[in-house]
Amino acid sequence: MYKKIYIFDTTLRDGEQSPGVSLNVNEKVEIARQLTRLGVDIIEAGFPVASPGDFAAVKVTAAEVRGAAVAALARAEAGDIDRAWEAVREAEAPRIHTFIATSDIHLQHKLRLSREEVLEATTAAVKHARRYLSDVEFSAEDAFRSDHDFLCRVVEAAIAAGATTVNIPDTVGYATPLEFHNFIAALFKKVPNIDRAVVSVHCHNDLGLAVTNSLAAIQAGARQVECTINGIGERAGNAALEEIVMALYARRDLYRSETAIRTEEIYRTSKLVSKLTGMKIQPNKAIVGQNAFAHESGIHQDGVLKERLTYEIIDPALIGRSLDTIVLGKHSGRHAFRSTLTSLGYELGEEEINRVFQRFKSMADRKKEITDKDLRAIVEEEILRIPEVYRLAYLHISSGTTVVPTATIGLEKDKKELDEAACGDGPVDAIYRAIDKITGFPCTLVSYAIDALTAGKDALGEVTVRVRSNSTDAIYTGRGVSPDILEASAKAYINAINRIIHADNGGKMPGGP
Ligand code: KIV
Ligand code: ZN
Repeated sequence: MYKKIYIFDTTLRDGEQSPGVSLNVNEKVEIARQLTRLGVDIIEAGFPVASPGDFAAVKVTAAEVRGAAVAALARAEAGDIDRAWEAVREAEAPRIHTFIATSDIHLQHKLRLSREEVLEATTAAVKHARRYLSDVEFSAEDAFRSDHDFLCRVVEAAIAAGATTVNIPDTVGYATPLEFHNFIAALFKKVPNIDRAVVSVHCHNDLGLAVTNSLAAIQAGARQVECTINGIGERAGNAALEEIVMALYARRDLYRSETAIRTEEIYRTSKLVSKLTGMKIQPNKAIVGQNAFAHESGIHQDGVLKERLTYEIIDPALIGRSLDTIVLGKHSGRHAFRSTLTSLGYELGEEEINRVFQRFKSMADRKKEITDKDLRAIVEEEILRIPEVYRLAYLHISSGTTVVPTATIGLEKDKKELDEAACGDGPVDAIYRAIDKITGFPCTLVSYAIDALTAGKDALGEVTVRVRSNSTDAIYTGRGVSPDILEASAKAYINAINRIIHADNGGKMPGGP
């Protein structure tokens, strides 16, 4: 019998704490929906007391997402816990996750509390949360750098007060695998009521050991791991969900553990998170990197052609890395279109289908064959479309090796067309200068990246930009997709500006309801 490992996904909370990442409510809900398709047990949707935006995201996720428990984070303070409950109460299976630091470094320099005060706060917080619900998780922040005997007293107190999960974070990624294994094993020996709670771990990746430490903890008896898609998170990130899950699967002979993850959804989830956060995946990243299943040397290619097992320990199909198959063409009708969407896992309303169908038709005029990746790109762009204050009406570029790059651009706003022209160091610079002239919006381009979504010369180009709002200093991600990379560049920048305007108006458009 394999033991069940609970997968607690914190992409929307710790993952969103990655520098420069900011997701809006729709994007968070879209990721949460995909996480349920993936089969995670618990989705940590946010930290409601941190901001009104975080509160709203947790509330909407709790109300709309079914099929996984939804957790809200709260410091060990009554006000935080009340706010977390308010946000998460409509979830099918709500969880409050309350935490306080236990290391002397944090007690002395950050909290300025004595150990006894931390013990009291732990008991009070867990009891307070238990008044609202039965699923309460307690985390001892910076547990690994805490005095082990004191940590054991805190964990015992949390369980006695009603915590059903106790989480042991390596908050600063300081542990090494053998040490962390022994640390967790000792907890099982020293905490008398440990059998009344699920022991969880939460490892950060500062030394690149987050996944290994999580696996070592599972071998020591931990039953829940906290992780994020693509390993995103504070600083060097958290343990990567896809790596933990596939290590448990590929080495089930050793770990004798199983998860409820539907592995075929891993790749799609990874792509979605990368796209919405704007955090690119390094090509050699395990499991989901572009090169993870690419065989370059002739000897390897020959081996794989003869027998896949010679150089592949995981079948790429197992994590949903399908070939980019042609699914539709210029002459495909509505019926074929609708059933293709269903087979790709999208359940869209009539109005959304109409919008996506229009996009598909205009793309099919410019691109002969539409693949599943193309279709996913336009569906996701349409589903996540935010209200557009500015929309690209037309774009004209003059560029070459002997001319000054010049862009003439028309944007539509309130049904009026606004035109401008500008020169730049290159065509993209010229486009962005022309857009700035029209909008007069105070923002700064922080980064620009371009990807070919599919193979072939007529591939769709996807541009991702990060733009800083000069008024709030917050960074927003904008995306644009088109077979023409300059058009994709313009769309991405306009998308980022629309997002800033949308966020600055609390999600409402100026003059809107
Ligand atoms: O890293 C950490 O300690 C955390 C806790 C709040 C669980 O993120
Ligand atoms: Zn963390």
